[in-house]
Amino acid sequence: MKTLIKNIGLLAGISESTRKEGPDMGVVHCLKDAWLLVDGDIIAGFGGKSVDESSPNAEETLPESDLILDAEGAMLMPAFCDSHTHVVYAGSRLKEFEDKIKGLSYAEIAARGGGILNSADRTHSASEEDLYRQSMERVLEMMAKGSGAIEIKSGYGLNTADELKMLRVIKRIADSVPAHIKATFLGAHAVARGMSKEDYVKQVCDEMIPAVAAEKLAEYVDVFCEKGFFSPEDTDLILTSAGKYGMKVKLHANQLHVSGGVQVGVKHNALSVDHLERTTDAEIACLKGSVTMPTMLPGASFFLREPYGNAKGFIENGLGVALASDYNPGSSPSGDMRFIMALGCIWMRLTPEQAFNAVTLNGAYAMGLSNIVGSIAKGKSANLILTKQGFNEIGSIAYLYQTPFIRKVFLKGKEI
Ligand code: NIG
Ligand code: FE
Repeated sequence: MKTLIKNIGLLAGISESTRKEGPDMGVVHCLKDAWLLVDGDIIAGFGGKSVDESSPNAEETLPESDLILDAEGAMLMPAFCDSHTHVVYAGSRLKEFEDKIKGLSYAEIAARGGGILNSADRTHSASEEDLYRQSMERVLEMMAKGSGAIEIKSGYGLNTADELKMLRVIKRIADSVPAHIKATFLGAHAVARGMSKEDYVKQVCDEMIPAVAAEKLAEYVDVFCEKGFFSPEDTDLILTSAGKYGMKVKLHANQLHVSGGVQVGVKHNALSVDHLERTTDAEIACLKGSVTMPTMLPGASFFLREPYGNAKGFIENGLGVALASDYNPGSSPSGDMRFIMALGCIWMRLTPEQAFNAVTLNGAYAMGLSNIVGSIAKGKSANLILTKQGFNEIGSIAYLYQTPFIRKVFLKGKEI
């Protein structure tokens, strides 16, 4: 089945690269008066006129198709790629929201046994079915808001059985939605109640990672490398174990302190190091020339009133940046990637084009998917957002961040 989308005012995000870095981050390649052909679940071709008025534009003949969709001059762009979420959880943390308003910090709430441990208690007592139902609602909402590729972490189980329960829920979600879903094992999110950190790290390395690998329930391993959680040395042990089982690495690093997390992540060729609210020149130097995508989570900075991180500095030093939602009950209860773009522009001073690349191609890279999604390219999965009429400038996505802008979302070629 071939669908031709014609009369596209702006076809945005055309790229054959696997990631965008440095000055290239500020460039979003576009065509105007364009068309795009979807064949089954892939982008089979596209064309249009150069946005540069001085280039001559020959008239093109449109390809044949079974179905024609008139974009009515609106924008067609890649669906968002959200490379860091914790959307599988039970219950809410509304009480902690109120505590935060009264002045308690994220670290103080965690130190009192709230935070991640609070969600772990709720996740423990929820049935797999209930966990699936609650989590699916969030994933469906994210898809409706334009996310087409989503990474989901475990990390509210904190024992082998409950971590596997979470990962099975992620697998079930992956099997039931058209979005591309990547699963990450985050057993080292917090030390389980009643255990010493040493014993827990040993359990993560010797029991949980082998069990997750045996059931092929996750491709990536993540650690919350942070004071009061897991040290760089603990992280090194866990990531070494991940490597033994052929699992790749993503990391929570430098959220509340300059933790040494970035350095451990780069040492283990992490796909991404995430958060980065607090970094110095040493982290920039370490990331240069690495395979690791610096990933920032402005939704968590907003919700916890924490710094937004030095995205501009990274880009000025030739690095790329991805932005992700961090959707979770404690530090970022939203998976709205447009809001994330707006925060990136307003608080991190990213240009709209930099923010666009950060939530599309670089997000795809940060979950090992940039050969499949994240840009308009022939042969890539047809994961597309068609905007409402009138939205045909990159800047307006973040500028008009509360105005509904989606007319249709296509994932794997199908309208959702
Ligand atoms: O990325 N910082 C650690 N993990 C999550 C928060 C998890 C939670 O509070 O439930 C984050 O912000
Ligand atoms: Fe997180």
